[in-house]
Amino acid sequence: MHDTAHDPSRRRLLRGVAAASAALALPAWARTDRPTAAAPITRAIPSSGERIPVVGLGTNAYGVATAEEKAPLREVLQRLARLDNSVVDTAPSYRNSEAVLGELIEELGVRPRFFLATKVTAPDGDVARGVEQMEASFRHLRTDVIDLMMVHNLNGAEAILPTLAEWKRAGRLRHIGITTSSDRQHAEAAALIRAYPLDVVQVNYSLDDREAESTVFPAAQARGTAVLLNVPLGGRRGSLFARVRDVPLPPWAAEFEAASWAQLFLKYSLGHPAVTAVLPGTTKLANLEDNLGAGRGALPDADARRRIEAFWDALPRA
Ligand SMILES: NC(=O)c1ccc[n+]([C@@H]2O[C@H](COP(=O)([O-])OP(=O)(O)OC[C@H]3O[C@@H](n4cnc5c(N)ncnc54)[C@H](OP(=O)(O)O)[C@@H]3O)[C@@H](O)[C@H]2O)c1
Repeated sequence: MHDTAHDPSRRRLLRGVAAASAALALPAWARTDRPTAAAPITRAIPSSGERIPVVGLGTNAYGVATAEEKAPLREVLQRLARLDNSVVDTAPSYRNSEAVLGELIEELGVRPRFFLATKVTAPDGDVARGVEQMEASFRHLRTDVIDLMMVHNLNGAEAILPTLAEWKRAGRLRHIGITTSSDRQHAEAAALIRAYPLDVVQVNYSLDDREAESTVFPAAQARGTAVLLNVPLGGRRGSLFARVRDVPLPPWAAEFEAASWAQLFLKYSLGHPAVTAVLPGTTKLANLEDNLGAGRGALPDADARRRIEAFWDALPRA
């Protein structure tokens, strides 16, 4: 008798058939890119082993209202869906960004292509308010399962983390974590990483903001916590681009295959061994393409990162 369960080649074949059928259920443009020499780099979330592309998407500017405003965002999501399991990061506080994402993702039929991440707060330890917020996130995102739920800016973290852990055990959340975008909270974030079994920490870090290297990163590395980076391009206020407006890209950027300033900035961060993925925010397809280029090819090693830092530190402030 042929026992499928114990025949690895047959199991592999069936898995291949299942994957091919799943891919065919998606619109043609949404099928995974064929692996090539320049395939997107992926890294594993240590606690689950799940792989995510190293360049995801921040959506704090996705809180829009009109069809004209939604059109470029649809293009961005459609392009990103060609990769498998990209992180799309949102929050209830980004105006109606969650609802816009839910609508566009449903319309494109690409929910399985994304690793959806959102956030929750429990102000003054009010867990009931956090629970209400999370229920609203499920409705707005039009999904039964959220891939990652993080406590936003550590607000009410100790109060609500046990609820997040419970919802994870129940299967409604797949990963849990915390976020901060303020250096002042890094010590507290590191303490939470040491105290709770968190899958992910999302933190501010870039060439111009390296504090997390000495606080959050070592705690995350010691505990096997994945590190996602917010404001990796300096954000809308402190943009890194302002400082290099009239500066040509140095020729040595080619050594780690950075073809633009955005790629140099993102590759710099991805070159740190603690970092799992960066979440640049963009509302434009051309900028997404540029950012995705940072997730392919070579990355700077420790020496190249030191050279980038020396170059950056010598530039006049914008
Ligand atoms: N505490 C927290 O939890 C927290 C705080 C802040 C942010 N976040 C998350 O992190 C994400 C990223 O942060 P952010 O969006 O504030 O800042 P960011 O990613 O550092 O920068 C976004 C800005 O850069 C521009 N940009 C993006 N790609 C570009 C490119 N290739 N070339 C030139 N300009 C480019 C964007 O403009 P266009 O839209 O025109 O491309 C936008 O103005 C947020 O969207 C959010 O999801 C979380």
